[in-house]
Parts: sequence; structure tokens; C-alpha cells
Amino acid sequence: MKGIRKVYDREVLRVDNLALRKGQIYGVIGPSGAGKSTFLRIINLLTSPDSGSILIHGKEVPRNGAERLALQRRMSMVFQKTLLFRDTVWNNVAYGLRARGFDRTEIGRRVRELLEQVGMTDLSLQRADTLSGGEAQRVAIARAVAFEPELLLLDEPTANLDPCNIEMIENMVVKLNSSKSITVVVVTHNIFQAHRIAREVIFINQGNIVEMGETEQIFSAPREELTRAYVEGRMIY
Ligand SMILES: Nc1ncnc2c1ncn2[C@@H]1O[C@H](COP(=O)(O)OP(=O)(O)O)[C@@H](O)[C@H]1O
Ligand SMILES: [Mg+2]
Repeated sequence: MKGIRKVYDREVLRVDNLALRKGQIYGVIGPSGAGKSTFLRIINLLTSPDSGSILIHGKEVPRNGAERLALQRRMSMVFQKTLLFRDTVWNNVAYGLRARGFDRTEIGRRVRELLEQVGMTDLSLQRADTLSGGEAQRVAIARAVAFEPELLLLDEPTANLDPCNIEMIENMVVKLNSSKSITVVVVTHNIFQAHRIAREVIFINQGNIVEMGETEQIFSAPREELTRAYVEGRMIY
């Protein structure tokens, strides 16, 4: 990201220069309204910044057109509030693979493997609109990664879930990153979650990246006083 500015009624995000590396797990933390979701949506090419540019593999992403769409299709995003299709669990996970023209055998192989990984094999024929929140989110992540995107973007993926589902989802994310080398950016207001799964942390406050660094450094030896206040739970917001 270079010289990124996003303005609504006021400037809500500015990123002068930021590089994300392939294969990494980034945790994006910061108070509510800090600009975390905006940051993620700009990376996902869902929101266009008012100025600045996004480069992917060193090449500037065009503002529109087929090439932009093709780049967007190499990423996947999962939101806090899951939107599954009113269909079976199996078909939800298979959907993106069918749309991308994978053959039946490969679709079957991948869907079976993913449902196994997310512990949903027994519920594969259940309708997705009858699942619990945690089950639905597990299916949403399986669906998001079925086509093996290069980049997985997660926006508060475990907010409002129980500890058991949170643990399952965190384990899945770490495993997907290591086994399929999918780069992950996870936005969370839960600093403990960032501590558990991220290898690098980006702290955003009032639309600015206050600090970015290795997870251990951010939590044990932050360079900025603001970061320290936030990770120690002293920041009032
Ligand atoms: N579509 C929009 N229209 C107007 N304001 C928006 C829009 N999206 C976000 N904002 C504002 O931008 C700021 C940052 O929002 P957001 O990125 O959602 O923060 P976070 O995810 O950190 O809570 C907030 O003040 C929010 O109200
Ligand atoms: Mg948000």
C-alpha cells in the first residue's frame, strides 16, 4: 500500500507505506472505529481509496477492469456475520469450486478434506441456515479457502463465538497458513487472539498505523506508548 487515503465524512484511513509478505499471518488490532475493516476492504479491492495505490506482487492494481477482478478472485474474505447460501453445508463449500470450473472428482476431494478439517463431516448434508453460529463460521471459512486463495482476509471472524469454536477456528487458520501457505490478515479487537495466531501485528488507531512488528515485540516491548496502552488494556475508547 502506497500513499493510501480513505475519506468518508473525515479521513478514516491513511497508510503511507506498508508491505505485507507472502506466507505470513498478520493480526490487525485497534479500537472500534479505528479503520480496521476499511483497511481490509481496501486490500480486498472492495473499497477504493481516494488516493494512493495497491501493488500486488510489485504490480499496481488497476482501478477497474478484468485484471482487477482477476486479482480479487485470488483472495477470499470472511466477515463477522456469516452469509451462507440456503443450501447444504456440502454445496456451500463446493460452490466456489463449481463456479471456477473444477471437475467433479477434484471438487469432491477438496470438499471432503475441508469438511473433515473443520469438523463438519457429519453435518455435510445439513442445511446451512440451521447451523449454530460457530458451525456456520467454520463452514464459511472452509468455503472461503476451498479454491486455495493466495490471501485470506478475516474480519472479526470469531466475535460472539464460544471458546470452543474460537479455538477450532484459530487452529484452522494457523493450519491453512502452514499447510497451504495461504497468507492471512485477521482483524480482531481481541488482542489475545492476535497474540495467539499472528506472527506480525499491525496496530491501527484513528486511521493511522501506529506500529507494526513481530507479535512478541508488539506485546512485550512496543516502541510506541499508545501501543503499550492498548495492549495493556489501558486505552479508554
Ligand atoms: N461506508 C462508510 N460510510 C461512511 N463512513 C464509514 C463507512 N465505512 C466506515 N466508515 C467510518 O470509518 C471509520 C472506520 O470504520 P471501520 O473501518 O469500520 O473501523 P473498525 O473496523 O476499526 O471498527 C468509522 O468512523 C466509520 O464510521
Ligand atoms: Mg470493523
